[in-house]
Amino acid sequence: MIKLPALIDPHVHVREPGQIHKEDWDTATQAALAGGITTILAMPNTKPPIFDKSTLEISLNAAAQKARCDYAQFVGAGPDNAELLPSLAVHAAGLKMYLDSTFGELRLDDMSLWTPHFINFPKEYPVVLHSESRTMAAGILFAAIYDRPVHIAHISLKEEVLLIKAAKEKGIKVTCEVCPHHLFMTSQVSDEERGKKKEGRMEVRPRLATQKDVDALWENLDVIDCFATDHAPHTVEEKDSENPPPGFPGLETILPLLLTAVSESRLTIPDIIQKMHTNPRRIFNLPEQAETWVEVDENASYEIKAADQFTRCNWTPFEGWKVKGKIMKVVLRGKTAFADGKVLVSAGYGRNVRAQ
Ligand code: NCD
Ligand code: ZN
Repeated sequence: MIKLPALIDPHVHVREPGQIHKEDWDTATQAALAGGITTILAMPNTKPPIFDKSTLEISLNAAAQKARCDYAQFVGAGPDNAELLPSLAVHAAGLKMYLDSTFGELRLDDMSLWTPHFINFPKEYPVVLHSESRTMAAGILFAAIYDRPVHIAHISLKEEVLLIKAAKEKGIKVTCEVCPHHLFMTSQVSDEERGKKKEGRMEVRPRLATQKDVDALWENLDVIDCFATDHAPHTVEEKDSENPPPGFPGLETILPLLLTAVSESRLTIPDIIQKMHTNPRRIFNLPEQAETWVEVDENASYEIKAADQFTRCNWTPFEGWKVKGKIMKVVLRGKTAFADGKVLVSAGYGRNVRAQ
């Protein structure tokens, strides 16, 4: 048995308000606890998006009623809210800027819309960029020009990890996260698999990349600050429809997949602690969760099945994968929150880590 500290997932799509047929604060936080995660940072691309005081209140009120693990809520950068967001910074996980193709309405296509956010948002609060490839390069240049830290969400490409490495060497304040699906899957689907996997189930942003990209992420693990799920649940019916929305659920599979990599000597337990506890706590300025830990059985093997999951979306891109490493128990602020496959704390037990 291995005892891990409080684990943080800085990138979760909770879907409440507005799309609770996919997920809500209750099911997302149950999935988190079942996955060994004790704090989630929620993304703002809900319906409506979280982009001002009243929408932030809608989300935080729902979370206060329903969340079972601890949390904070990001606010989203829009074309005309750069003036009002600084007053919300203390109440939010940070500012999320969508600079590239994504699911939902929050998007800043025009680079001139980025500037007021980089100038106004307080430097002590995190700014997270959804920015891929050349857009990521532009985002890092903004970080250098306006001298403020930025965190790059879900990197997936060799060119991205190498540019972040070079930027860090120059002293630019950039950090990044990588998701399990970009570490363990590629865009290449074998003919045998193609028949089985419905194409819509492979849709995710950033897209799955090549083996060369995946290899570069593994070779440059020291450049990667955090592991994050980008838990982006859409129902299995939506994924198998004519117009499949992009996104994978991931809260319940991140730790078993990473522990399997540990069992194969591709990763170490200290790597997991650094990238899911120490670094996200520092980057997102999160308080310590007292009397909080996660117990895993590093030798327990099992098969991932959507039917066993707490997420409402009813599918997983890792269906049938054999993993080694199982979450046995989660203790959150002195209370057993998950054990024997059951969530044991009630809705409302979760705390807003940004509550004043
Ligand atoms: C995310 C979603 O569904 O909200 N989808 C995804 O493919 N990652 C949006 C996003 O993170 O860009
Ligand atoms: Zn996301």
